[in-house]
Amino acid sequence: MRIPMIAGNWKMNTTVSEAMALVKEMRPGLDRIDNVDKVICPPFVSLSAVKELLKGSSIKLGAQDLYFEEKGAYTGEISPLMLAELCQLVIIGHSERRQYFNETVELVDKKVKAAFKAGLKPILCIGETLKENEAGKTEEVLAKQLSLTASQAYNAGLVLAYEPIWAIGTGRAATGQQANQTIGFIRRHISQQCSREIAQAVRILYGGSVTAANIAEFINQPEIDGALVGGASLKTSQFLSIVEQTSSFKRGK
Ligand code: 13P
Repeated sequence: MRIPMIAGNWKMNTTVSEAMALVKEMRPGLDRIDNVDKVICPPFVSLSAVKELLKGSSIKLGAQDLYFEEKGAYTGEISPLMLAELCQLVIIGHSERRQYFNETVELVDKKVKAAFKAGLKPILCIGETLKENEAGKTEEVLAKQLSLTASQAYNAGLVLAYEPIWAIGTGRAATGQQANQTIGFIRRHISQQCSREIAQAVRILYGGSVTAANIAEFINQPEIDGALVGGASLKTSQFLSIVEQTSSFKRGK
């Protein structure tokens, strides 16, 4: 039985005071919803303040990235050890990092391993561009992005997020059926690479223009275990509705 997860990726939005105001607004509603792992991932600079505001809450806190070294002369970077004092999860390999900051499969894998070593649970993002999708290369691209992810990572609780790049921030979400089909492929691929048990146990989220209006389409699909939400996670009513709908549907299953 895979527990559904809804994670909000706030990206480079909110100052510390804005993040605090948003958390205060969301917390009571989110705390009332069970059966779903609720995660928010504000910018690094707000993690400390948000952690304080989430004391006693069932909402989990995540970061949006990390560097793989524990400490040293890496100006501007944030280490797994620093994050381990502040949060439980970390998004790794987001397409915006791969695209704008040239993160490779090798670098992403180092980050995944470093996260686990520090006791953080990674949400590993994978997804294809529009060009790759149209050229029929989706499966090839996803397989490459997963090529270094070993059984140990899945067994230790790695969460995957399938985010087709053409659906991110475009308002053009995949259909539930498309996302289910591709996530089905990911599960089959993991089954071949690792084992059937591992493939059945790993949680795989969909991400890309998820809103309160379309979340039902995704969580109604058997392969999809939740969502990684960008824009709509910054709006309390939208995010609450997404989590609430996920809880109701998956509870009824
Ligand atoms: P949007 O929901 O804004 O499309 O962003 C998706 C995303 O990239 C989440 O990580």
